Parts: sequence; structure tokens; C-alpha cells
Amino acid sequence: MASIVEQRDLKRPVADISKRPEPVFKNTPITTDRYYSREFMDREWEKVWTKTWQIACLSKELQKPGDFVTTELGRESIICTMSKDGKVRAFYNVCQHRGMELVPDRCGNAKRLTCPYHGWAYDMDGTLRFVPDEADFAQGSPCGKLNLVEIPSENWAGFIWYNMDENCAPLKEYLGPIADQIDSYPMEEMTRTLWVTIEGDFNWKLVQDNFSESYHVPFVHPETKFVMEYSYRNSQFDHYDEGHCRMLMPGAIPAASIKGGEKETLASMKEELEFWEMDPEQYRYGKTSNIRLDLQKQKRLLGEKKGFDFSNYHDAQLTDHWHYTIFPNLSFSLKPDGNIWLRARPHESDPEKCYFDMWYMTLFPKGVTEYYSQSIKAMTSIDEPVAHKQGKAGEVSAGPAIDQDVAVWNKQQKGLHSRGYKREYLAGQESRMRYFHETLEKWMAD
Ligand code: FES
Ligand SMILES: [Fe+2]
Repeated sequence: MASIVEQRDLKRPVADISKRPEPVFKNTPITTDRYYSREFMDREWEKVWTKTWQIACLSKELQKPGDFVTTELGRESIICTMSKDGKVRAFYNVCQHRGMELVPDRCGNAKRLTCPYHGWAYDMDGTLRFVPDEADFAQGSPCGKLNLVEIPSENWAGFIWYNMDENCAPLKEYLGPIADQIDSYPMEEMTRTLWVTIEGDFNWKLVQDNFSESYHVPFVHPETKFVMEYSYRNSQFDHYDEGHCRMLMPGAIPAASIKGGEKETLASMKEELEFWEMDPEQYRYGKTSNIRLDLQKQKRLLGEKKGFDFSNYHDAQLTDHWHYTIFPNLSFSLKPDGNIWLRARPHESDPEKCYFDMWYMTLFPKGVTEYYSQSIKAMTSIDEPVAHKQGKAGEVSAGPAIDQDVAVWNKQQKGLHSRGYKREYLAGQESRMRYFHETLEKWMAD
């Protein structure tokens, strides 16, 4: 198989594919209490959740003055608004009078935000504009004084991001080199075509741990061995100074370790090959390992005709899995025609629960409004917004592959309490998970 690090001669800059030097690990034990201790959860709130950048919503959800979106993170509710001047801001979603949640709805459009308790009304820029019986306050009218408390926010890469730390570094500095890599995809043009939230009975870190390694792939997702080269020997793992990580894993190719499986590879890839006007039959009799490079060439050849602009991508981006983990709780796999975004948000009070969100962002070919997404195996429509499905594991599905991951976390949470479990060995290919925990330890330190 050709090396994943071959470079093409491209006109525009593409994501840096070079391998980062390995970090030096401290190898401190990853003790199980961090998955269920309330004390640890409280410290995470103070040290991590209130200091790191989080995604509130899609940029597209705030398009015209008066639009607002609320989002939950642990014990806080955040509201993002667009004011008359078109500026987007983020505030704590709390009324300054007596602490009532200001806006209970997830989204909408309003001239003002009026508290349901005593009717204090705020402009979309956070200014308190009206209070009933204004003359009845001994301190004088609170209007213009008791405004909503704004927090840093940025509109970038198709998302509104916020940070509860008023002294935080700008988002791009926080993301480091990964920011440019995300920027190489036209995120703003993508449409959310799947949106699921699973109310999980597990700590949020089990989610980030899981998406920080592919060691589990052949066991939890056995069908993928026919279409991805999951061996760590053929993947590249990068750890960035900012605490984020990347994995590059070849796709559109069966794992070298499997014997047979040609039928399964061709069945799994049939739709994609036919879309790209390739005949699956030509890969019979021992030729499935040629698919990856042929598909890259064919995408170059037919990309424009099919409504895609692949000129900004490295060949490896056309077929492979470019998977990122952003500290603390975000991970995503980028592909030129669609990206999967995964994150776990902490529960408001219980360390053994969390909310696991999954979005699929589709890039529709030019001029196309209905598109069969091979990644999520479903017809998708460019019409927004897509329905948000939320429920317990088993009640709602995030798609077969992600459901397989979710099924693990429930069982694992219980196992972490066992008197018979002593956390010890991590494989080299689980280094991103270790890096996540060592980054967490750094943030948690006083
Ligand atoms: S708490 Fe909001 S108006 Fe009283
Ligand atoms: Fe998985």
C-alpha cells in the first residue's frame, strides 16, 4: 500500500499531513474515581468546563436579528443571540432579577427576551430594557444596569463557539494547528443531516476515551475490517501541544490482516464505487487492495462533474479517516463530502451520566438538494433544520456504528466500579487516550 504521507502538488494549501513528534508521557495511573467521583466532577467544572471552548450551535441557526439558540453544559444554560446590528453574542441564560432561567426554548426569534417570572425584558444585545413597576426600586431603575452577563464567543467554521472564561485565549489559539486543518473543509456550506442526543448512563470521559483510539475497532465494529486498514502500523497518530490529537487511517481498503473477505469489501463499497462510476466487479480475484488509490484517482477525475471541488485536498483526504479529538470533549472525522461530529457534555449533577451528541454534516454536491449519503447510508435533504432525536441508549439510534460504541460505555461504567478491576496497561496505539488524560491532569492542577 502506498504511504499515507505522499504529498500531491496542489495549488492551494491543504491540511498539514506531517507527523508530529511523540510527546513524552508521564504515565500517571488513570484512576477509576475520575469516572464517578463527585469531587472530581466538581473540580472538572471549575477547572475544565468553565475554561474551555465549546460549540453552542450551528452558525446558520443565527441568521437574522432576533434569532436565539440555547444550549446546556452541565449546570449552565447558555443563550446565543443575534442583535439588530447582526452581531452574535453568548450570555448565561439567567435573569438578573432573581435567577430564573430566562429562555426555556431551544431556539426561536424574538424582539426581546422576556423573563417568564416577573417580565423583565432584555434586548438581544443583553441590555435590560424594561422592568414592570420601574419606579418601585429603591436603588433606582435596574434598566441598562442589570444586563445579561456576556461570555466570549466566536463564529467560526460553521459553528458558534463559547467559553465561560472571560480571560480565555482566542479560539484559534486554543485549537492550534488543528484550526487550519478544519479550515481546509468548507464547513459553512455543510448541512446538518443527522442530529441525535443520547442520554447516557456513563461518564463523559468514556466517550472521549473511546474516540481517542481505534484499538477497539476490530472487536466493536468487526464489519469495518473489510473497508479500513485499522492496524496501528498503518495509521498515523499526532499529538498537538494544545492537548488535541489526530489520527490518519487509510480507508476504502480491507485490513491487510484479514484473510478472504473480498465479497464483503465489494458489498460494502458497491454504492460508493458505483457513484464514482467504478465497476466493483473489476476488483474481484484479489484486487480489492487497489480500490483506495483507484478511488482517489477517480474522485480527482470526476469530482467536478459530480459537483465537488476536491482541489484543496490531499489524496488521502478523499478516502481516508482523518479523525480529530479536541480537548476536552469533541471529536470528529472529516471527509470532503461530509463530517461526523461527536461530543459528550457533562450531566448537571451526576458524574455517571452525560449527554452524547452526534451530528452528521453533509456537503451537498453543487445544485443537488437530495443526496444519498454513503457515510450514514440514508437519503439526506438540504432542507434545514433536521429533526433532533433525543433519548436513552436503545431508544434512539445514532447509526449502527456509533450505537455499537454506545453499547460499550454503559457496561464499562459498571465495570469501573468493580473491586476486581485495576486499571493498568494501555497499548501504544491508545496514546491519544493517555494524552487526553494527561492534558486533563494539567488543566485540573491548581
Ligand atoms: S426572575 Fe426574571 S423577572 Fe424576576
Ligand atoms: Fe468505535
